[in-house]
Formats: sequence, C-alpha cells, structure tokens
Amino acid sequence: MNILGIESSCDETAAAVVSYKNKKFKEVTSVVHTQIPIHQKTQGVVPEVAARSHVEHIIPVLESALKKVGRGSSRVNLATQIDAIAVTGGPGLMTSLLVGMETAKTLGTVFNKPIIRVNHLHAHLLVAHILNKPIKYPALGLLVSGGHTELVWFESKTRLKTIGATRDDAAGEALDKAAKMLGLGYPGGPIISKRALNGDPEAFNFPRPMLNDPGFDFSFSGLKTAVLYTLDKMNKPERARYTSDICASFLRAVDETLVGKTVRAAQKLQPKTVFLAGGVAGNPSLRNMLKKELQAAGFPPPLIPPREYCTDNAIMIATAGALLYKARTKKFHTLEADPNWELPRRLKNFA
Ligand code: KG4
Ligand code: ZN
Repeated sequence: MNILGIESSCDETAAAVVSYKNKKFKEVTSVVHTQIPIHQKTQGVVPEVAARSHVEHIIPVLESALKKVGRGSSRVNLATQIDAIAVTGGPGLMTSLLVGMETAKTLGTVFNKPIIRVNHLHAHLLVAHILNKPIKYPALGLLVSGGHTELVWFESKTRLKTIGATRDDAAGEALDKAAKMLGLGYPGGPIISKRALNGDPEAFNFPRPMLNDPGFDFSFSGLKTAVLYTLDKMNKPERARYTSDICASFLRAVDETLVGKTVRAAQKLQPKTVFLAGGVAGNPSLRNMLKKELQAAGFPPPLIPPREYCTDNAIMIATAGALLYKARTKKFHTLEADPNWELPRRLKNFA
C-alpha cells in the first residue's frame, strides 16, 4: 500500500509517499518546502503570511513528490500508485491547515481516493515506526515541538493519553524566544544548540522548572525569563562574550528538565519502548542525554528518528496514515481542520 502524506500545519509545506508492505515501511519520496527564510524577517511565524506561502507551494510540492513514485506524470502516478491520502487535520494554524485539508479533499474527490485525517502530534510520535525496529507497547513518547511539550502514554498505537504537558511555553517556543532575546535569529532551537557547542553549560545556573514536582507537567516560561534577567544585568560587550555560555547553560537546563521528567515517568510506568519526537528532538545534546539517562536507569535505548523526520515533514503524516488506514473515509464533507485538536488527557482510542 502506498500512502500520500500532506502537511501544512505551520511553516512547512510538505508532501511524501510511504509504502507499507508486509508490516515494513519504506520512504518512497519526501519533499519539504520550508518557509523559514520568510519568517526570519519577522523572527516568528505570521499566520497570514504562512497560509499564503502554503497556497503558493502546495501544488508544486505535490507535483514534485508524485513525479518520483512511478513512470508517469504526477497525475498518472497519483491515479495509479496511491491508495489513500493522509493529511494533517490539526493542531496548527487554521488558515495553514485549511490549505492542506482542502487540497487533500479536492484530490480525493477528483481521483476517487480515500482520506485519512491525521493528528499532527500523533504523527510526530508514530513516525518512529518508519525505522522498522520493533516497537513494543506500552510505550512512552516525549514530544518536543515548537508548540507542544508532552509526555504521552501509549497502550497501543491508537490507545493513548497525555500524562504531562507544558503549562505555558513549549520547550521549542522557549528556545525560539531565548534566541530572539539573544539576537540570534529564527528558528532558535538549531541556532542555540549550535552555539551551545562552544559554551560552558555550567556557566549560568538556570532553573530546572518543575523537575521535582510529583506530576509530569512542564513549564518553560520562567526559564526563558531567567535568561532575560541575566541579559538585563549585562552590557553589550558582556552579552556578546557570554552568548555561547548562555546558550549552553540554557540548553542544559531544558535538556535536563525534559530528560529528568521522562526518566521518572518511565520508572513509574515501566514502558517497553520510549520514543522521542518533534523538532527539538533534532538537538544532539537532548538525544544523547536521553539515551544515556534511560540506559543508566536500566531501560533499552529510546527510538529517535533521524533529524529530518523530527522537524515537520510529510513522511510522518503518511506513516501515521498507513497505521491508521482503517480510519479512511470518502465522506469528504465531514472532514474539517481543527486548530485545537489536542491528544486526549484520558486513555481512549484516538484516530
Ligand atoms: O516539530 P517542529 O518542526 O514544528 C512544530 O510542530 O512546532 O518543531 C519546531 C521547533 C522550533 O521551536 C525549533 O526551534 C525547534 O523545533 N528545533 C530545534 C532543532 N530543530 C528545530 N531545537 C533544537 N535543536 C534542533 N536541531
Ligand atoms: Zn510539528
């Protein structure tokens, strides 16, 4: 079975095809058009600007992906090679989501293909399946993206609940805002993690928010404010001199908070698999710390997809679509984008 995935929830327009045969996944093609250069000017995503860019790029991105899945034109390949279309239904920016959803519905209608509406957060976590490594349930997932920081408990790929989430800023959002305060540009996560390599992670003692609280919720806005206070006390040359140290110390505080909570959740709930997902999972220090600390606590190594599957992409949407194939529908009028489509707080079947 070949699934076409479409993603447009925030600032990446993406299309990909994944094949799923004999319980094995394979990436057939993946195209991502990123809007990062556009949003660098405003140091953040302006929804109206993002949506316009999706409108401009969705068809070229789809054509370029579909050309690679057979010998025909993109249209012939869609008609002959694709079994279903998976599309991000939320959460995300409404006007951006609408571009992907309406494109999927149009293609579904014209080419008579069923559609699987996929939750973006669920897809970030399920993309680990494309590694074709055994994923045993129950599993614990740590999702760290620009808008979400969540610990998710899976009894199966579709029976799940969030056991902890951020009460204010997501980790990625805090990284982006800290980078903005430091004048480093957008998006902050990759820039801070690069600058951190030349800094001392113990130079500044930033807080580890809620690390010792009994629950699994997170809070990153205080940590971000701690960076602001540190910068306020410095003059311009000091700021320049200590930028790498601030990056390293800030990142260490973020990593230790994320990893500390995840290991504690694993110790309490005893999952058979732990996976790490979302854009911030592209950060090598987080990947390494999670591996090391889980191992020290006696757990097998976590499943961490390569970086290009961590940031927004359509492979994750197509992979989730293959796993949720049963939920496909041709009743296109019932399919709607939902900008606030969160994962459930109580254990339930979710698809
Ligand atoms: O999952 P994602 O691509 O988009 C959302 O669904 O939000 O995550 C974007 C977030 C941004 O905050 C960005 O700064 C962060 O992921 N990010 C990283 C890295 N690459 C992206 N953070 C740390 N290290 C990276 N290499
Ligand atoms: Zn995402």
